[in-house]
Amino acid sequence: VIAIDGPAGAGKSTVARALARRLGLRYLDTGAMYRALALKAARAGLGPEDGAEAGRLGECSRITIGEGDPPRVLIDGEDVSEAVRTSEIGELASELSAHAAVRRALAGRQREIVARGGCVLEGRDTTTVIAPHATLKVFLTASLTERARRRTLELEAKGLPADPEEVRRQIARRDERDSMREDSPLTVADGAFLLDSDGLTAAEVVERIVARLTGR
Ligand code: DC
Repeated sequence: VIAIDGPAGAGKSTVARALARRLGLRYLDTGAMYRALALKAARAGLGPEDGAEAGRLGECSRITIGEGDPPRVLIDGEDVSEAVRTSEIGELASELSAHAAVRRALAGRQREIVARGGCVLEGRDTTTVIAPHATLKVFLTASLTERARRRTLELEAKGLPADPEEVRRQIARRDERDSMREDSPLTVADGAFLLDSDGLTAAEVVERIVARLTGR
């Protein structure tokens, strides 16, 4: 089990997917589960404050992450892979994820997947709460400027609107919210391998993680 944690836009998804492919492991994007639940909550008319309701919704929803590459995200059988990728849903996922009821609703399922072993999981709290006993815990980071640049390119590549300044503000806000929340804040776990990806390609980041694993 390899867990990758870190702030928004650090490249966790790209790196985790490439690493899983490289090592022949399954890949679990925990953020996609928060996004799927946020989408369902938004459709039900819930807002950022409705943590208890959203938690209940999470308990009775079937959220599945496929094993393909890229993995599909399904909620109650509906493929929402694209719908969960907008900035609005990312924002609501971040807000709702601060509520303990929401985290409880998803953490159990994430732990079950991890318990089967052989997986690279990625997301805020994966190294501290979901898989603190992972074989390797990585805290992947990059400067705010670099993270905003990557996120802007990612949105543009998907044909979604992206104003670089607004993306930067959103990431800074997301960092603050994810770090300040009481339940499972973004922190560097004990024993985590701290990796700054500024100036590195995704492939180089993957190589550093593999080197760390194999003690090269
Ligand atoms: O990694 P992402 O942007 O897809 O995640 C969206 C939000 O979900 C993020 O801002 C915080 C929340 N999240 C979380 O609280 N815990 C996780 N393990 C993954 C995501």
